[in-house]
Amino acid sequence: MIKLSILLFTTLLFSKSTFEDSFITQYEYGKMLYKNPRGISCSKCHGESAKGKIIATFTHTVKKKEYICTIRTKDITNVTYKNFLQTLDPKLEKPKKKFDSTQVCEKLTYGNSMPTYFLTPEELKSIFFYLKNKDKYEGK
Ligand code: HEC
Repeated sequence: MIKLSILLFTTLLFSKSTFEDSFITQYEYGKMLYKNPRGISCSKCHGESAKGKIIATFTHTVKKKEYICTIRTKDITNVTYKNFLQTLDPKLEKPKKKFDSTQVCEKLTYGNSMPTYFLTPEELKSIFFYLKNKDKYEGK
């Protein structure tokens, strides 16, 4: 009986630590890739916190009217996996969006401000995992 409970106890202990190990591994891996994804760092445009920032402001003239456009990123810690993949998997296309004639800047910048990355499905999953858990894990 004692033997059995020791066995149970060590099994539980072991399975908990492997869970934590794999959590940390995937988390750290995703964090590393977010900073250095074989190409321009995600944090450069999305910020260390992934909560978004202003990247650039420029003017654009259409029919003699000047528009001041701002390229900004939004919070990507709450992005859905579908949206995440549509943005980052070069095989998938971002859904087309309709813009009216006043949305000059939106039309200009939609879907072409992100560089193209060639990340593997595992790498994509890890970055997503990192984004989803960073607030919980780092307490921000
Ligand atoms: C050169 C700047 C730049 C870099 C580098 C960059 N992004 Fe982006 N990203 C943007 C901009 C601008 C948008 C919003 C406009 C758009 O959809 O193209 C965006 C959109 C996204 C979205 C979609 C958000 C939504 O809710 O639609 C995700 C997810 C994302 N980026 C993740 C990443 C990840 C992960 C990396 C690194 C592998 C990365 N980005 C690198 C500029 C950048």
